[in-house]
Amino acid sequence: MATHNHHTERIPMLMKSSTSNESLLSQLPSQQHKNYVMSNGNNINGIISNNYAINNSHFITRCFCHVMKSVQRNIQKCVAALVLISFFSIIFFTQYMDSPALVGLIRRDTKPMPLIHCQTLNKSPSDSSNTHDHRSEARLRIDPKVLVFVETTYSKLGREIAEELVYNRIKYKVEVAGKSLPVLTNLDKGRYGVIVFENLDKYLTMDKWNRELLDKYCREYSVGIVGFMSPSEETLVGAQLKGFPLFIHTNLRLRDASLNPSSPVLRLTRAGDTAWGALPGSDWAVFQHNDSTYEPLEFAQKNTLDYPTDGIQPPLTTVLQDHGKLDGIQRIFFGAGLKFWLHRLLFLDALSYLSHGQLSVSLNRMILVDIDDIFVGERGTRLKPDDVHALIATQKRIGDLVPGFRFNLGFSGKYFHHGTKEENLGDDMLLRNTDKFTWFSHMWNHQQPHLYDNLTLLMNDMILNKDFAIARGIPLDSGYSVSPHHSGVYPAHELLYQAWKKVWNIKVTSTEEYPHLRPARLRRGFIHRNIMVLPRQTCGLFTHTMYIDRYPGGRDKLDESIQGGELFQTIVYNPINIFMTHMSNYGSDRLALYTFESVIKFLRCWTNIKLTSAPPLQLGEQYFKLHPEESDPIWGNPCEDERHKKIWSRNKSCNVLPSLPKFLVIGPQKTGTTALYTFLSMHPSVASNLPSPDTFEEIQFFNGNNYYRGLDWYMSFFPSNNATLTNNVIQSSSNPRYFFEKSATYFDGELVPKRAHQLLPSAKLVVILISPAKRAYSWYQHVRAHGDIIANNYSFYQVITASDSAPKPLRDLRNRCLNPGKYAQHLEKWLAFYANQQLHIIDGEQLKLNPAEVMNDLQRFLKITPIMDYSSHLRYDPKKGFFCQVINETRSKCLGKSKGRNYPPMDEKSMKILQRYYLSHNTALVKLLKKLGSRPIPLWLKNELSTTT
Ligand code: A3P
Repeated sequence: MATHNHHTERIPMLMKSSTSNESLLSQLPSQQHKNYVMSNGNNINGIISNNYAINNSHFITRCFCHVMKSVQRNIQKCVAALVLISFFSIIFFTQYMDSPALVGLIRRDTKPMPLIHCQTLNKSPSDSSNTHDHRSEARLRIDPKVLVFVETTYSKLGREIAEELVYNRIKYKVEVAGKSLPVLTNLDKGRYGVIVFENLDKYLTMDKWNRELLDKYCREYSVGIVGFMSPSEETLVGAQLKGFPLFIHTNLRLRDASLNPSSPVLRLTRAGDTAWGALPGSDWAVFQHNDSTYEPLEFAQKNTLDYPTDGIQPPLTTVLQDHGKLDGIQRIFFGAGLKFWLHRLLFLDALSYLSHGQLSVSLNRMILVDIDDIFVGERGTRLKPDDVHALIATQKRIGDLVPGFRFNLGFSGKYFHHGTKEENLGDDMLLRNTDKFTWFSHMWNHQQPHLYDNLTLLMNDMILNKDFAIARGIPLDSGYSVSPHHSGVYPAHELLYQAWKKVWNIKVTSTEEYPHLRPARLRRGFIHRNIMVLPRQTCGLFTHTMYIDRYPGGRDKLDESIQGGELFQTIVYNPINIFMTHMSNYGSDRLALYTFESVIKFLRCWTNIKLTSAPPLQLGEQYFKLHPEESDPIWGNPCEDERHKKIWSRNKSCNVLPSLPKFLVIGPQKTGTTALYTFLSMHPSVASNLPSPDTFEEIQFFNGNNYYRGLDWYMSFFPSNNATLTNNVIQSSSNPRYFFEKSATYFDGELVPKRAHQLLPSAKLVVILISPAKRAYSWYQHVRAHGDIIANNYSFYQVITASDSAPKPLRDLRNRCLNPGKYAQHLEKWLAFYANQQLHIIDGEQLKLNPAEVMNDLQRFLKITPIMDYSSHLRYDPKKGFFCQVINETRSKCLGKSKGRNYPPMDEKSMKILQRYYLSHNTALVKLLKKLGSRPIPLWLKNELSTTT
């Protein structure tokens, strides 16, 4: 309506101004203006010069002029009226009528059409069962791992190779070429299925000894080699490749790549079409050969612009396979690196072929395209009926190539019918076609869930949207939802998970944020509170990408992504792809329709990938079937990711304490951890977590089921106070500055080091060690005292000597008793994640005998201030037999009777057995302690080793 008012206001202005020649003249084109002044000026001047004399001719002239003048005025009025009528008609038709032809007249139609130029597009890919199977018996003798020789740790192609392997979840080891070879075998198995040389030259010029060793390995285990020609400074023409009947030309510019359709290497890659145009780079190498061991895999033409020629040039071999007929080793040589997209596919095929199928990636891919919110969008950017038509038509066409394909439409009911009249018709048309799409719910008003700290309010918002769906006939049963702006999914906002379950019974969602947005190749899934969180991929279309000519980098950039670039590769590398697009990508130039139809056609053209689609729930189930190891989440620290900070629960700020613990006392059990915990808690600057109702002072978060309760649960043990952090300096001195957590079972928990490091990478670790034999005995007494039936039915000796054929409960008890004492093994696991300098080892015997000194050392290590002198706070209690906390001159407070228990000494036989049992572990511990630096070797360790040897 605003436009109309605007125009109606202008009409009187124009009419009025027409009474004044000057003002109307100023609105006419300059030529017309000039003529007008001349003709009128002459007439007026003539009348004045004759001083109003009355003669006929003058009268006739005057009358004529008068008539002419009024005719002229009327014509002007008519023209102005005509212009106005036409203008309003156009506005009316474009706003209120579904008339694309008319709209086309006034608006440039820029909508790009999806790619269709591909020779093989209409031929369906051949059945994968036989044609693309590289598997042979030989694969059973090698591990599915790649050994990559790089030039330096930072070299570009080496990094690209590693990235592609990571993306495809292929295990690999990187070695700098030129150094000695790593161990290649493991018992009777080859450790690597394929050897890759970032620079083929490094393979050719390897020293004789290593080359013989490597070639021998390759022959014995049927392991193949991939080598990339590296750009050479001098241009070689027909130079022989050292040791091979093979000749190369280097530093070429090439164009128009195609593939050898009969190559046995092709599996993922489909031959048949030509990648037209210049190939990236000016340093391509091509191979010339005349031995039957060689078979071309890829060809290209010389770039005729650079090398003008009159005749047709024969194709040049840019990727070559060596069947190994000459020396029994199969190889694939690449004439250039991975800058050319087709090489990325061929590289995966080379790994598959040369490893006899051990490194074959699946050919099945699933794809789901979400439309963020089909009703949220500014007027003028929303879907009109013809956009909805196009959406349905494209879905049909994609569905012909991708079985099961349906656009997945998100909705926030509040914004329904918020567009122009025509856009509202678009909304209605969507609702008339609900059964054609799958649907998922957002929040009613597209609000970010992490902003809610009240479950009822959050649920009410979801209920509003659910009521809207019921009223409008939108299906409710997808079990899928997406949170606006990824809010609250990861880092997990527990209220969102609860509300999703209660209102919608959500079973699956997706986000780009776990563990982080970038790098995309590391995005993963997890399951939290029974909701599968799937990784979502990026397709390059955002809310503001509505017009092709405004796409960042222009149309070429989008086409590059589709035609072998980022988007294409994303689908090639990810077995399950969920993309998020926005409603605005389906209006205007309909870029999403263009993008997905094009990329799917391009995939069809160049790969043997079988693309299918399914509703989100099936996708989720499939994802975790493929990656069961991802089910468990690994919680990171939201404060370490700027994006995470913005979508984290509102009541948790990174600038307000509590922070997470600064150090962890990780055990092991029965070494004096409670005494240490108590002593630390006496310090005014140190505070532990709040007690847990189940495990008292211990939270036991990182090792057991508590981990699944999430980060909010963990953080609730470190109560908020009002001290704030500014530039990492605490602004309130009365608050404890050092939060710590003690859970003695962390020490030997399999997953604990990784989980702890993910959340607390800069935490310090405190470990207490005593004789592992004594520890085992103390632990046995501990579980006995707690009424453990097995421990009460079997003597300590029987427990530690229980054989592997003993009843399971007894074996379990034996393991739990003995395993934590393998100190070196467990410490190594921690040190795989934490730096040596983050670890502090306390001699548990010293903690008993001289706790004040132990506490002094510990404070210095933790950099706790002020240093508290524990000698005046701890006193030896002869009755307890241990140091206790000083209360006053006469009273002290000791640990409870479960700490420092009275029990008979260990029998000699058990002692001997345990000393032998722990011998190798203790020896490894001495080695480790020495490696860790200046730590004195504890007396008990020296004694144990000397008694056994
Ligand atoms: P025992 O009860 O077998 O003697 P934890 O707290 O890790 O479970 O370790 C318990 C052990 O701490 C006790 O084992 C005891 O030997 C030791 N300890 C060390 N200092 C202590 C202290 N000041 N008071 C009580 N026990 C102490």
